[in-house]
Amino acid sequence: MSAIPHQAIYADRRARLAAQLGDGGVAIIPTAPERQRNRDSEYLFRFDSYFYYLTGFTEPRAWLVITAEGHTTLFCQPKDLEREIWDGIRLGPQAAPAALGVDEAWSVHELDTRLPQLLENRNTVWYPFAVHAGLETRIDGWLQQVRARVRQGATCPDTQRDVCVLLDEMRLFKDTHEIGVMRRAADISAQAHIRAMQRCARMLRGGQEVREYHLDAELLHEFRQHGSQYPAYGSIVAAGANACVLHYRADNAPVRDGELVLIDAGCELDGYASDITRTFPANGRFSGPQRALYDLVLAAQEAAIAATKPGNRFTDPHDATVRVLAQGMLDLGLLNKNDVGHLDDVIEQRHYFRHYMHRTGHWLGLDVHDVGSYVEPGEPGRPTGRNDPVTGQPVRERPSRILRPGMALTIEPGLYISPAAGVPKEFWNIGIRIEDDAIVTDTGCELITRGVPVDGDEIEALMRG
Ligand code: GLY
Ligand code: MN
Ligand code: MN
Repeated sequence: MSAIPHQAIYADRRARLAAQLGDGGVAIIPTAPERQRNRDSEYLFRFDSYFYYLTGFTEPRAWLVITAEGHTTLFCQPKDLEREIWDGIRLGPQAAPAALGVDEAWSVHELDTRLPQLLENRNTVWYPFAVHAGLETRIDGWLQQVRARVRQGATCPDTQRDVCVLLDEMRLFKDTHEIGVMRRAADISAQAHIRAMQRCARMLRGGQEVREYHLDAELLHEFRQHGSQYPAYGSIVAAGANACVLHYRADNAPVRDGELVLIDAGCELDGYASDITRTFPANGRFSGPQRALYDLVLAAQEAAIAATKPGNRFTDPHDATVRVLAQGMLDLGLLNKNDVGHLDDVIEQRHYFRHYMHRTGHWLGLDVHDVGSYVEPGEPGRPTGRNDPVTGQPVRERPSRILRPGMALTIEPGLYISPAAGVPKEFWNIGIRIEDDAIVTDTGCELITRGVPVDGDEIEALMRG
């Protein structure tokens, strides 16, 4: 079995993790469990992101153990010719060291006998807290076996720590390899959005009935044609008023001439997510009110993009978005000045929440809502002047994360206008979101998803094509 691609990258990550475990530390990281869908069918297996980040190994039933000295042990499925006829080729423990660059490998059936040995005479055991159901119980069992040997002179770990704290921080900063994969995933997703837009306009022009699932099918086709393993999350394809349901899924609603369609979909490629939203006129031409709202969301996104640069805080793009949207809501009459006051009141009192109720972005990587602390480590909280209603203690605001090169995040403002008295009728039931994926660079950010345009005129032009 030949070495997996990029073996050295995973070895380097394991070494960097080992160096943070402290004297006598040992880390245990399992991959994800297989999950039953119904009767004897299973969901398509998706490895655990932490495990994959450290190994590049995609088989189920695998565990990684790393010591502070950098010794790595893999447990994996043993070779089994009969099972492999049904389920596919397994790497097996014999081939694993050469293929993955780990120091030793054993059958996963030996986990319960070997783990107590690996924990013996260690002081701290690191593992992912609250990620894998039942893991704590298994570790308790292994620790009990170590403790049973203390009269023979063994020492048992007396400290347990959350390995996610270390891995989340590592994963927050994407290396060149990761950025390369994310760019490819973004390109595939951008092409998929174009394909769905064009199909929608073409079907309507041809007098065909369009349903949301027709557009979902276009996305899936493009993802798989380019080697994506699966969508990075459940695709949202929302026609008309469905766009105002934030977690709507592609369903069977008709897509009507004159409506907008919101598609929030991205493929996963070799473990990495992309996450794009585009909103477009089903027939390829925005109406006046649709375009007015669309251009407002686009202006909000541009403000957020300008605020996505090193040294700024994670919250700065959101604050920039809110300022533009809130002003636009006042200008377009979505909020009544007599009721809500001026711009600063709208922001302070969160009146904009009525039409914009989510945050403007999230970290992106192996998980679509990727790991990584949203507060700046090591900075003390600032007093807010408010007291906690339960404890009465002063509330300190944790300072938002400072953006640094290599961080990857989405920028996704939106507007969602539900029918209500006082809101101009021409805007009712319009939902718009524009979402791009950004990598923070030395000077600003690079948008990796602009293979699909955002400009209203450009969208109309490509839908005529
Ligand atoms: N598609 C999930 C999100 O935009 O956060
Ligand atoms: Mn997103
Ligand atoms: Mn999204």
